[in-house]
This record gives sequence, structure tokens and C-alpha cells, in this order.
Amino acid sequence: MFNITSKAPVLFGKGAVEQTGAKAKEFGWKKVICIYDKGIKAAGIVDKVLASLKAAEIDFVEYDGVVPDPPDNKCEEAAEIARKANVDGVVGIGGGSSLDLAKCVNILLTNPSPLSKYYGFNVGLNPVKGAILIPTTAGTGSEVSIVSVISDTKNNVKVGVAGEACIAKLAIIDPELTLGLPVRITAETGIDAFTHGLEAYTSIMAGHYSDLLAEKCMELVAQNLPIVLKEPQNYQARENLSFAAMLGGMAFTDALTHLGHCIAQSMGAVEHVSHGTSCGLAAIMILEYMADVVPEKTRRIGEILGLDLAEDLTAEELGKQVAAGFADFCKAAGIPTSLSEAGFKQDNLAAIAKLVAAEPMLQVAAPKKADEQQALALLQKAF
Ligand SMILES: NC(=O)c1ccc[n+]([C@@H]2O[C@H](COP(=O)([O-])OP(=O)(O)OC[C@H]3O[C@@H](n4cnc5c(N)ncnc54)[C@H](O)[C@@H]3O)[C@@H](O)[C@H]2O)c1
Ligand SMILES: [Fe+2]
Repeated sequence: MFNITSKAPVLFGKGAVEQTGAKAKEFGWKKVICIYDKGIKAAGIVDKVLASLKAAEIDFVEYDGVVPDPPDNKCEEAAEIARKANVDGVVGIGGGSSLDLAKCVNILLTNPSPLSKYYGFNVGLNPVKGAILIPTTAGTGSEVSIVSVISDTKNNVKVGVAGEACIAKLAIIDPELTLGLPVRITAETGIDAFTHGLEAYTSIMAGHYSDLLAEKCMELVAQNLPIVLKEPQNYQARENLSFAAMLGGMAFTDALTHLGHCIAQSMGAVEHVSHGTSCGLAAIMILEYMADVVPEKTRRIGEILGLDLAEDLTAEELGKQVAAGFADFCKAAGIPTSLSEAGFKQDNLAAIAKLVAAEPMLQVAAPKKADEQQALALLQKAF
């Protein structure tokens, strides 16, 4: 059994951002809230969106208080501004953090606070006004995904708000917006996109359709991330990465991510590490761990990474070689490949393992699950 869910409509291509105002007008919106962080503003990206809104005579208010791994209280703060301004829709501009916060504001416009009432999947949400999501990184796929990931400040964990209400009314993907993305963030977000493909592909909920999306996502990242890291202004390679990230978001909206993102999310709650770095570290662990239950798919991932794999490998050897191949790919992108290299403290591994086991929903699609002891063993091996 597998899902093919409805997807966010997408406007994709060079200059697409200039259509933002016209699209908002088509939706009948007169006033919107634009949500972004200070880095996006400094990169000159927000001004492009505002110019397009002005040209279409769409009124707007702004919220520039987004921070990485956005906390619930920032979502409430922005929603308060949006409610007071009586906006008709939301425009999120930025990486996953800005887009996820924008999704929550969209929800809180038609659903009473606090946001914590809506943690989980489709938890009694009223229909939403709508969000235009404009990604400026090529990684999370949040612009087309069914989930918003935010930080629950009460319990110090990351939580998901998921369901139709999180699907954008329109995703405007303009790869030109990623041309100025710093090299480190380009690498981290590219690795994140690859792991979305990898986990959707190996999920127990995978089907022919999500496999198509996931394989193409991984192929495009494998081919284009090395080019972009050498030539950050290479538009075609940037466009391919933006497309890959979108495919990854669509793939995991149908087939879900699983053990890798469960471990990554748990690592992120305990150690200060970027989402892309933690996803890369976790993917190295799970490739070896799950090879015995998904050998064909592990081999295909290795082929996508350009590895030369002998025909007669045991599943164990296959897992080791593909995990090592992916670690080499991360290393070439400047991403740490061991927990010690990423600055983790050995004393924190037990706490991370506890969190992995405490979130069974995040492993629901895993072809091989991990309990606390298994998670601890994986973390110790990766240290
Ligand atoms: N909703 C989903 O489907 C989903 C999926 C995966 C991850 N996530 C979440 O997304 C978040 C991570 O998002 P992210 O990796 O895109 O990073 P981010 O949104 O946290 O941004 C990282 C930094 O990059 C800067 N930046 C972004 N675009 C830029 C550009 N074009 N030029 C210059 N600077 C730019 C930002 O200012 C910020 O400082 C995490 O909270 C993660 O949990 C969500
Ligand atoms: Fe991710």
C-alpha cells in the first residue's frame, strides 16, 4: 500500500519570484504578511518579493524575526502581527525555518492559539487562508511538503505540525535566489535533500511514484552538489539542486522519512548541529544498519553515488561500502562524517538514544527500527 497525496502547485524557474504579486492578486488577496529572517533580507531577496507585491498593489506587513529551528513562541509572535493586520494570506521567504514558521502562521490565522494544540498529523485543523512559499535554500523541500517542523520550547524537542493545512497554496521556486547561498549552507542543505530521497526510497511506504521522485532527487544532488560547491554561480547546477530539493519534499510527503530523520532530530535537540549535518551523519549510520532488509535499494543508492559495487557482495558488505561511499560524498562537501568531528560530546549519546526511542512515530516508515540500545550502538559506532 502506498500514498499519492495532493501536491502543492509549483511555479518553477528563473525569475519566478517576480510573479509573486500577480499570483497573490489571482488569489484575491489584498494584504499579506511576509515572513523571513534577517539573512534573507540582507541577501536582497526580500526586496524582490516586496517589489513584486507593490507592482500588483498588494498591501503587506513584515515579520523578520525567524531564527533557525524556529521556536513555537516566534510562530505565535508572527501570528499576532498577522491577525492584527487582518491579512488575507501568508508569504514565506527563506530556508526551511522561514517556510515552516510561515506555515504555522497560516494555521494560526484560522485556528486559535496555542500552536501546541496542533502538534501531530491533521489534528482538528480548520481550513487555512493560504501560503505562498518561496524557498531560498535547496534542501528541506518544505515549499511542497505536508509538514512544518518547529521547536517546542516547553519540552525542548522538535515537533511536527502536519496535514493538508501545511501544503502551500503555491510554491514559487526561483533557483536564482540560491545563487548567493553561502557554500557551507549549500552543502548542508544539499545533503538534507539527498537524505529525503534516500529515506523516502527505503521507506516501507515507498511505491513506484515516490521511488521515481526519490531516485531523481538523489541523482540530481549526486551530480550537481559537487559542481555547485566548485562553481557557486553555475545557474544550471543550482537549478538542478532546487528541483532535486522539491522532488525530495514531494517524495517524503508520500513515503515519509524515517530512522535517519528520527536520529537527526534527536541529535539536533541535544547538540547544536545544523539539520543538514545531522541528517548526513544519520544517513551514514542507517545505510549500513538497514542494508540487510533493503539490499536492492541500498545497491541502487550506491550506484547513484557512482560506486563500483561487486555483484557478489553480502548485504553487510554492501551496507558498509555504500555507507562509506556516502560518507566520502559528505566529506567532499565539507560535511563532518563522525559525531566527534561534528563536535558532539560522548556524554550526550545516551540522551540522544533515549530521544530516538521516545519518538516511535518518527520511525513508523523505517524498514528497520531502532530501540534505545540499538540507537546507542549506532551513535557510539558513529562517534
Ligand atoms: N517542513 C519540512 O518539510 C522540513 C524538511 C526538512 C527540514 N525542515 C526544517 O527546516 C529547517 C532548516 O532549514 P534550512 O536548512 O533551509 O535553513 P534555515 O532556513 O534555517 O536557514 C539557514 C541560514 O541560511 C540563510 N539563508 C537562507 N537562504 C539564503 C540565501 N539564498 N542567501 C543567503 N543566506 C541564506 C538564512 O538567513 C539562515 O541564516 C530546520 O528547522 C528543519 O527541521 C523542514
Ligand atoms: Fe530534512
